[in-house]
Amino acid sequence: MAILTYFGGVVGALAILLYRLLRIPSNLPKNIPAVPIYISLLGLWSDMGQDEIYDRWLRQPLEKYGAVKIWFAGRWNLLVTRPEYLSDMLKHEDVFAKAGSQKKIPWSVISSLVGDNIINSHGDDWKLYTSVMKPGLQKTNFDSKPILDKSRRFVDILLNTQKDIGANNGFLVNPIIQRFAIAAMGESFLDIDFECLERPNARIEVLQSIIKRTIFKPLYFNFPVLDMYPYIFRSRRRAFAIMKEFEDLLYDLVRNRPRKLLRKEPVKPEDELVVHMMERALDEGIINEQQFRANLKIVFLTAHENTQQLLNSMFWQLGSDQTIQDKLRAEVLATGVTNPTSETLNKLPYLTSLICELLRVYPPVSQLINRVSLEPYVLGGEINIPKGTWVGWNAPGVQSSEAAWGKTARQFIPERWGDKPEEIMAKARRETVKGRYIAFNAYNRKCLGQGYALLEMKMVLFELVRRVKWTVDPQYRLKLTSGGILAPLGCKIRFEELDSSRLNADSVT
Ligand code: HEM
Repeated sequence: MAILTYFGGVVGALAILLYRLLRIPSNLPKNIPAVPIYISLLGLWSDMGQDEIYDRWLRQPLEKYGAVKIWFAGRWNLLVTRPEYLSDMLKHEDVFAKAGSQKKIPWSVISSLVGDNIINSHGDDWKLYTSVMKPGLQKTNFDSKPILDKSRRFVDILLNTQKDIGANNGFLVNPIIQRFAIAAMGESFLDIDFECLERPNARIEVLQSIIKRTIFKPLYFNFPVLDMYPYIFRSRRRAFAIMKEFEDLLYDLVRNRPRKLLRKEPVKPEDELVVHMMERALDEGIINEQQFRANLKIVFLTAHENTQQLLNSMFWQLGSDQTIQDKLRAEVLATGVTNPTSETLNKLPYLTSLICELLRVYPPVSQLINRVSLEPYVLGGEINIPKGTWVGWNAPGVQSSEAAWGKTARQFIPERWGDKPEEIMAKARRETVKGRYIAFNAYNRKCLGQGYALLEMKMVLFELVRRVKWTVDPQYRLKLTSGGILAPLGCKIRFEELDSSRLNADSVT
């Protein structure tokens, strides 16, 4: 009898605990629906992609109400997709303050990875990081030569891999894209050649693959409270160790980079990269060691991951639709140029519109819930949000909504952006302000690496279509991973060298 009473007590206590953990707080807005909690947890037992989940359970309520209550990362949040609500939210950073995992779940593995940095901080900390780093992230004169060199080596590796496995077989491109994206980022931001393209399996690059697998494990993603118990969960202990290894290795590689040690003269101001600005701020005591490390890691991560994702989507889209690839190739070959500069690239309308459309249909940062309301606010004059509510956005949702983009919203049509580069970029800016195009976010917390990302994408696409033609094996289908990252990662691609490839060597200056 005593055992039964004890057992009943334990079950009861657990039930109360679970109820308190999972119930929707009563002060959350009543005029928007809640997505059933099991939808957020589907990743635990199903391999459905996030795109499929969105279409089946989120699209309808979000398109009708513009916002929903949703369980994510261990709590109830508000997810917003109506353009008017989005621009209201993003415009008011003073009310909806950035608060990343370092605030939300400071004990977690992800927080140990990213720390307090320029992307997830708010107020004085953000102003401090921005004052140090912005000039290096938003340079108007990025040297395009190292990006071109890395793009060439990237295409060489794709062709050599194809040669090795035989013309009729496809292969996975994501691992090679990752090596390219890290190498290009190192040259443009960190004054270092990580040599990932020259040396497969460089530890810093291998760690990235492990980190990406670790961070998006559905169980810990949905219940980050489990990260508090690494002594129970061995895999979390390993995860913390991996994050530490990455931080220490990156710090060591960058601080002791050969170029820095061999340099006799200080870097000229016009040639300074973000890492030079950060090192100076560290030496002068403007930022401390911890702030330096967190921002170093976030530059490394954000400046390669997003272009890596976009390149994956690009290989998928253009490899499945040869008309688009041919049209782009015709534009590139018509330039007669084999050594493009940023001026050459910025004059190409189809290349520009294609990248805008890739970012619309396949936004690499697809969903973020990393803002918290600092005071009560009526979003769009309609949704009462209490103080302390976590809010976020979903980019594929708004960018594929017919209300925002018309009947063809879900089709890939680069031409929708216009046919002159200035007109295309002006449309991108207009749609951003209206909250319909948020691939780089909007207002004062918009992406500071946008200019660089566009340059890198244009350069590598120019080199690719000029030298190779690629096709996707039709057995593959597109799928979003549970981390929300677009992942046509499993698709195999076949490459064919084109005649125009031969022009390459003659023209290298
Ligand atoms: C295709 C490539 C890229 C995409 C789609 C992208 C997208 C985004 C998005 C959506 C945000 C807002 C994040 C948030 O709300 O928390 C953001 C912020 C940011 N991005 Fe990017 N990004 C890209 C490339 C880059 C690159 C190459 C860098 C260079 C380091 C970079 C640096 C930043 C920084 C520093 C911020 C924070 C800005 C602030 O809050 O002041 N991004 N990016």
